[in-house]
This record gives sequence, C-alpha cells and structure tokens, in this order.
Amino acid sequence: MSKIDKFESRFIQYDPAGRVFRVNRDAYTSASVFEEEKKKILYKSWIVLGHESEVANKGDFVTRRVIDKELIFNRDAQGNVNVFFNSCMHRGPAVCKEKSGNTKTFVCPYHGWAFRANGQLVSAGSNEADAGYPPSYFEPGGVSLMRVKNVAQRAGFYFVNFDENAMPLDDFLQDAGKRLDRIASQSAVGFEMIVGVHEYDINANYKLLCENSYDGYHVLQTHATYVDYMGQVLKGSDIDPGVRGVALTFGNGHAAFEMPIRAGRPIAQWLPHWGEAAKKLIEDKRKEVIARLGEEVGANVCDMHSNMVVFPNSIINDQQTILARTIIPLSQNRMRVRAWTVAPKDEHPKLRKIRMENILSFLGPGGFATPDDVSMLEWAQTAYESTDVKWNDFSKGITADEETMRTTANYNDELQMRAYWLQWDKMMAAK
Ligand code: FES
Ligand SMILES: [Fe+2]
Repeated sequence: MSKIDKFESRFIQYDPAGRVFRVNRDAYTSASVFEEEKKKILYKSWIVLGHESEVANKGDFVTRRVIDKELIFNRDAQGNVNVFFNSCMHRGPAVCKEKSGNTKTFVCPYHGWAFRANGQLVSAGSNEADAGYPPSYFEPGGVSLMRVKNVAQRAGFYFVNFDENAMPLDDFLQDAGKRLDRIASQSAVGFEMIVGVHEYDINANYKLLCENSYDGYHVLQTHATYVDYMGQVLKGSDIDPGVRGVALTFGNGHAAFEMPIRAGRPIAQWLPHWGEAAKKLIEDKRKEVIARLGEEVGANVCDMHSNMVVFPNSIINDQQTILARTIIPLSQNRMRVRAWTVAPKDEHPKLRKIRMENILSFLGPGGFATPDDVSMLEWAQTAYESTDVKWNDFSKGITADEETMRTTANYNDELQMRAYWLQWDKMMAAK
C-alpha cells in the first residue's frame, strides 16, 4: 500500500491525517454495483479454481463454478491441464454433469457430440455418418470446447482469469505468491486435496466474509465460546493461549494477519489433549521442517497461524489445517462458500485425523467459528438493508503513512481491510 493523500470517492472516505477510513454500504447492497464489480473486478482478477492434486492423473476432471461461469478443470491424455467452459459447441448444454471423475471423452447428452479430454471434437454422435459436417470439424484446430485462456498455478493452487488482457499471475499476486510458497513449504513432498468439501450459502455480500477472515479484532467477542473452551483445554499446560501478531499487506489488495496463537497445528504445534503419541509425531515433523528450511523460517512456518485473502474473493486459512474458502458471489447479498482443505501427501494417519477433527471442530460449518461468523455477517447485511446508516468504519490502527506499517501493524488493526478496499475502489474507478 503506497502513501495516499486524503480523498473521497463514490465508495470511500479516506483521511489518513484525520485517521478516518469509511466505506459506503452501497458497496454491499446495490445490485447495480454488484454488476459493475463483476465486470471491473471479478472478471479481471485471478480467482482460485482448485488444486493441482485434483487432476493428478491423466483423464481426471472436476466441474466447478467460478463467479458465474461453469467450468471443467481436467488433465488430458497428453498430461496437460485444461480449463474449459462447460457448454457443448453444438447447441449448448453442459457436456459434463458429474462433479468429478476420470474420462477420455466428454459426451453431450443432447445429440452426442463427443470431445476428447483435450477439448477436441472427436465424433458428432450416432448420426455422424449422415451429418454433413465439414471434415475440418474433427481435425486438430477444428471444433473444440472453448478454453479459459488464462490459467496458471502457484504453489499448487490453480487460478483462472477471464480477462483477455490479464497480467501474469505472479504479477497479480505480488507478495501473496510468496505466502502461498511458504504454505507449500510445510511439506517436502507436496500437498493433496482431502476428498470432500463443505459448501454452504450465506445471505451476505461476499466481501463481508473476506473482511471477516483476517479480522483478528472480532475473535474474543464473536467467538467467546471457543475462547472459553481453549482456556479449559490449555489449563495447566505451559502453552500461552494469548493472541498476538501482525497485519501483512502484500500489494494489489492482498493481505493477511499472522499470529502465534496456540490453537494447535498438525504442522507442527502440539496441544496436550492430542495425546503423547501425537506429541512425538509433531516433534519429528517440526524437526524435519526446521532442518529443511532453517531455524528462523522453519519456526515461522511451524508456529504462525495466518489467514490471507487473495483479492478479491479467495481465502486461504493456514491454521489448524490449511483451508481454502473460494467464494461464488451469487448476488449483492448472497454468496456460496466452497471450503476445502489440503494436507501433506505423506501425512501420518494420526496427524491427518487431528487435522480432520480440527476442520470439524473449528473451521467447518458446524464448528466453533463458522456459525458465529455467519450470524454476524447476515446480521450486518440485514442492517445495511434495513437502516439508513450509510458508512462502515475501518479506521482502527490507521496512520498517516500505512506503507511503513506493511509488516508491523497489529494483527487486529484494520490495515488489511483498508488495503482491500483501496484496491477495490481503484478498480471500480476505471472507465
Ligand atoms: S447440443 Fe450438444 S450435441 Fe447437440
Ligand atoms: Fe470469526
């Protein structure tokens, strides 16, 4: 975040010297603003699609919606990764209705056009002999499923961008790319996506979940039950349940908080109620990480919890597990959340079990955290739509020059949200 002088735009009131930052609630409630931000922001940004392990083998595919586009993400017979729009090139229907699987061809249910895993049309159905199609349709370079042109990966996370003139992924990510690399460095052999996904809708604007993800300021209040529970769990141990940490901004609206909260990590922070057998496994894991990455980086990788928002709608929580929340904004006041987790391929079954329990107990839709957060987000959205209050306040921790705070602000300042909103506002100002 560079130094910016006082300004007022359609959506933001920013006065660094006066220490005020506000966002107009139209940004969360207006249907026309939502349509505008789809064009100016969502279709122009790199959006997390999935993980390389989902298409590890030739023929593997998944189908998935990103923003409002239905996609096929697959690996073809040549070993290449593709992303296609899931629509028949004849007259339209989705050529794949399965959520995932392995196939050599996608066959349209309407007239039977069949497309190879690399997208190329291979047959025009049972009446092909009489079809009268130009032979060129079936040759390389002929008819093919339409590709999403901009597909790239960083640290195993695949992204798509629907903008013809998209900048390279690494330029878009700036230092958020290094954070993804750091997460990937938890494993020497790579990550795999754990089969199964939590999918749920929230009646709130998608940006509210982004804000909530790196908002350290709400935890003691919103998650009081969890804080009480952890106090009980950690009683009598030498582990400090206190929370401290920093806010981090990475450029282009990406940001995170990072803190050494003692909430346990299968990499590599043990809690007493996980038992002595797990303690030894986690100590060994910690030694392996530190031997590989060095004391300073290794300890940081092991101990630090961080929640990152990759602008504008992809959340990577590196906590009691690594949880990606990829948000489908359905309208200005409704989102669909896909929450999925990755883990080291060679993880010991006991640690994998702890990881799975962590997902259910804290981050899952029935865990300690998520229902509390969902309530707050929905109550906020309801109030935006049913009162005349116009502005949200993000002034906490503001200074005259936030560039100097890029890695030093407190985790529970609102620096992360200001970084997000300044990028959002900049992109919305484009003609
Ligand atoms: S619409 Fe797909 S084969 Fe006709
Ligand atoms: Fe929360």
